[in-house]
Amino acid sequence: TSSPQTIIVERRDRVGLITLNRPKSLNALNGQLAIEALAALKAFDADDRVGSIVITGSARAFAAGADIAEMAEKPFTDFYMNDFLGPWDDVKSISKPIIAAVGGFALGGGCELALLCDFIIASEDAQFGQPEIKLGILPGIGGSQRLTRAVGKSLAMDLVLTGRTIGAAEAKAVGLVARVVPSSDLLQAALEAAHTIAGYNAPAVKMAKEAVNRAFEGPLSEGLRHERLLFQAAFATEGQKEGMNAFVNKRAPVFRHR
Ligand code: CAA
Repeated sequence: TSSPQTIIVERRDRVGLITLNRPKSLNALNGQLAIEALAALKAFDADDRVGSIVITGSARAFAAGADIAEMAEKPFTDFYMNDFLGPWDDVKSISKPIIAAVGGFALGGGCELALLCDFIIASEDAQFGQPEIKLGILPGIGGSQRLTRAVGKSLAMDLVLTGRTIGAAEAKAVGLVARVVPSSDLLQAALEAAHTIAGYNAPAVKMAKEAVNRAFEGPLSEGLRHERLLFQAAFATEGQKEGMNAFVNKRAPVFRHR
């Protein structure tokens, strides 16, 4: 397979790092980037040497949205028959945790990509918004649903209908982002969080992600039942024996990542 043109793919210890790399268009998400990003995510998901994934952009932009130049003249039938946003639907099939490290603009599809990740670490200068309405369209990679679940109806309606952006502090206050760090520390903070996750009992990490995601599907009773079964299943893993034995014996655990 040829190497990707729109992203940089690296492995740092047990962390898979994907850097969006279309600087001339502020990392606008074109069709090629979608295909390359999903291929990289699937390869990391299948790689035992990787325990977690970070997606980042540049200091100026995480991503300024879907590629407007690419979309501008597309007819309906092209979108409908050949969905260029379609690859993003597969992010939900990735079982390893994905952290979005967001600096600068996360607008439109860029905000939606951040929301597709499991959690967001933002730099102080990050800006989030769904400005599609200004282009005569609306969010198309799940923003109307995931942003609303993340921040509630009123603010989601405000952002989607007015197209205004919010800064990192407001995004933190409303729970859109997990942490805000100084811009110079962004990648380091995300890699450290990812490295911490990648050091834990890998089956338990996968189960934990699956359990939290259940909170967004089906009734509470089913989510609780699913969590309990996964909790019980964790006792079938070697990592559970190791983690608890280490605690009882006051030593650091050594997990074997499978
Ligand atoms: N698609 C394609 N190109 C983009 C882009 C995008 N989403 N965002 C920025 N660019 C390009 C600009 O056209 C410009 O290219 P040139 O140098 O060739 O002119 C370059 O990136 C730099 O951008 P600006 O000169 O505009 O930089 P700025 O600092 O003045 O403004 C900005 C930055 C406010 C982010 C502005 O670029 C902007 O408003 N971008 C568009 C944001 C947007 O509307 N996003 C939603 C896209 S639609 C979508 O995402 C649909 C969906 O849900 C799937």
